Amino acid sequence: MKTILITGGAGFIGSHVVRLFVTKYPDYKIVNLDKLTYAGNLENLKDIENQPNYTFEKVDIVNEDAVNALFAKYQFDGVIHLAAESHVDRSILNPLEFIMTNVLGTVNLLNAAKNNWKDNYNGKLFYHVSTDEVYGSLGETGFFTETTAYDPRSPYSASKASSDHFVRAYENTYHLPIVISNCSNNYGSYQFPEKLIPLFINNIRNNKPLPVYGKGDYTRDWLYVEDHATAIDTIFHNGKLGETYNIGGFNEWQNIDLIRLLCTIMDKKLNRNTGESEKLITYVTDRPGHDKRYAIDATKLNTELGWKPSLQFEEGLEKTVDWYLENEAWLNNVTSGEYLQYYIKQYQVG
Ligand code: NAD
Ligand code: DAU
Repeated sequence: MKTILITGGAGFIGSHVVRLFVTKYPDYKIVNLDKLTYAGNLENLKDIENQPNYTFEKVDIVNEDAVNALFAKYQFDGVIHLAAESHVDRSILNPLEFIMTNVLGTVNLLNAAKNNWKDNYNGKLFYHVSTDEVYGSLGETGFFTETTAYDPRSPYSASKASSDHFVRAYENTYHLPIVISNCSNNYGSYQFPEKLIPLFINNIRNNKPLPVYGKGDYTRDWLYVEDHATAIDTIFHNGKLGETYNIGGFNEWQNIDLIRLLCTIMDKKLNRNTGESEKLITYVTDRPGHDKRYAIDATKLNTELGWKPSLQFEEGLEKTVDWYLENEAWLNNVTSGEYLQYYIKQYQVG
C-alpha cells in the first residue's frame, strides 16, 4: 500500500495520470491536489471520482501552510508534481502568476516532502513533471537530449526551468530522492481549448477563424497524452533516482501542416465539403519570442526503460477529434465565462 500525491490532477495531463494510477494500482491511495484554476476541472475525472482509492483535495501549492498540512495528514510515499500554469501566451500576459505557482509552489512541495520525510528517504520519490521548452529553440536540425543546456525563452519556460533547477538543487543539497521528465507537446482528450489543437477543433466546429501565428512555419513534436501518462508510470516505477528522462514520440509537425490535416479530418467528421475548414485559416500577429522548433530525443527512455508510444499521430488526432465532437457539452462548459475574456484579450476578437 502506497499513498501517492498527484498535483494538478484536475488538469489535462494530470487527469490522465490520475485515471491511469487509480485504475492500474488499486492498492495505491491516490490523492489529487488541485487549486482548480480555469484549467482545472473535476469533470475530467467523473469516471473515477467514486473509486475507493481516490481522494480529491482543493489546495493551492502557493499556500505553504496548506501544503504542509496535507503532507502531515497523508504521509505520502511519493509525489508526482504536475500542477503548473502551463500556457505560454498567458505567461506573456501575466508572468508573475507563473513564478508564484511554478517556482514558489514547487519549492513549497519540495520543502514539505523534505521535512515530512525527515531524511528517511527509503522508498520515497519526488517526481517532477517538466517540459522540453526549458531547452529553448532548435534550428532546422538536431534534437533536445537530457544533456542539452537549458535556454528558456518565455516566462513560462523560464519558470519551469527554475523549478527544475530547484528540484535538482534539493537532490544535491538534501539528497531528496527525485526524478525529472521533460516532455514534448501533448494532445488528446480534456485539453483546455487555449492550446493549438483543441482551440482549432472548437473554432472549426463553430465556424470561427483559425488564428495561425506568423507564417505557421513553427515546428512542434506531438505526443498523445495517454502515452505521456504511461511514460510517467514507467519512470515513476523504474526510473533511476536523480535522473532526467526526455519523453517524446519522434513526431515533428510544422504548425501549418498539422492544421491542414486537422481541417481535413474535421471536414470529414462534420460532413463538410473538402477544403471548407481550411478557409477559416487566418494568419495573425506572431507570438512574441516564438520558439522556432522543438524536437525531443527520447532514446534514453526507449532503451533504458523500454517505453514506447502506442499511437501514430494521424490515428491519435482522429481519436482526439472524435472525443471533442462527442463531448461538446464539456467544450461548451469550459469555453464560457473566463475563457471569453481571455479570448478577446489574446486575439483582439469576440
Ligand atoms: P493544465 O494547465 O491543463 O493543468 C494544470 C493543473 O494545475 C490544473 O488542474 C490547475 O488547476 C492546476 N494548478 C494550477 N495552479 C495551481 C496551484 N497554484 N495549486 C494547485 N494546482 C494548481 O496543464 P497540463 O497541460 O496538464 O500540464 C501539466 C504539467 O505538465 C505542467 O507542469 C506542464 O508544465 C507539463 N507539461 C505539459 C505539456 C503539454 O503539452 N501540455 C508538455 C510537457 C510538460
Ligand atoms: O513543448 C511542450 C509545451 O507544449 C508545454 O510545456 C506547454 O505547457 C504547452 O502549452 C505546449 O506549448 P506550445 O506553446 O508549444 O503549445 P501551444 O498549443 O500554445 O502552441 C503550439 C504551436 O501553435 C506554437 O507554435 C504556437 C502555435 N499557435 C498556438 C495558438 C494557441 C498558433 O499558431 N495559434 C494559436 O492560437
